[in-house]
Amino acid sequence: MKKVKLLNGPNLNMLGIRNPAVYGTTTLKEIEEELISYAFNKGVVLDCFQSNCEGKLIDEIHSCHKRYDGIILNAGAYTHYSYAIRDAIEAVEIPTVEVHLSDIHKREPFRHVSVIEDVCVKQICGRGKQGYFDALDDLLNEYIK
Ligand code: DQA
Repeated sequence: MKKVKLLNGPNLNMLGIRNPAVYGTTTLKEIEEELISYAFNKGVVLDCFQSNCEGKLIDEIHSCHKRYDGIILNAGAYTHYSYAIRDAIEAVEIPTVEVHLSDIHKREPFRHVSVIEDVCVKQICGRGKQGYFDALDDLLNEYIK
């Protein structure tokens, strides 16, 4: 079976902290549970990890090396400045889809910038929870051999 890692950084809304008017009412638990069974039905094992700590996310990306076929990543606010996360994605050479619940291009100017975008195979944003399912489909249909 193929293996995909779902990684979430400090997406504060999913952890119950932010205004649902901006991010919707999706919780992290919901996404993880639903995506695990969606993946399983497609013959994919999905493992999940969340941390608010940049270094732990980097360690997790490194540990995917040669063990995972794809990564789905919502790095939260780290998206906008973490060259360390960017480097980790580049180093492991695993197709990574960048996901955001909100449309980052329609929000505050600093959110328009993603420093990880150029090392990810694709950026999906503004589709809410659906973006995670689309990311898995894109990995399976286009990027995982
Ligand atoms: C986010 C967008 C980021 O700008 C923000 O810091 C988040 C969530 C999203 O999923 O829309 O925490 O990644």
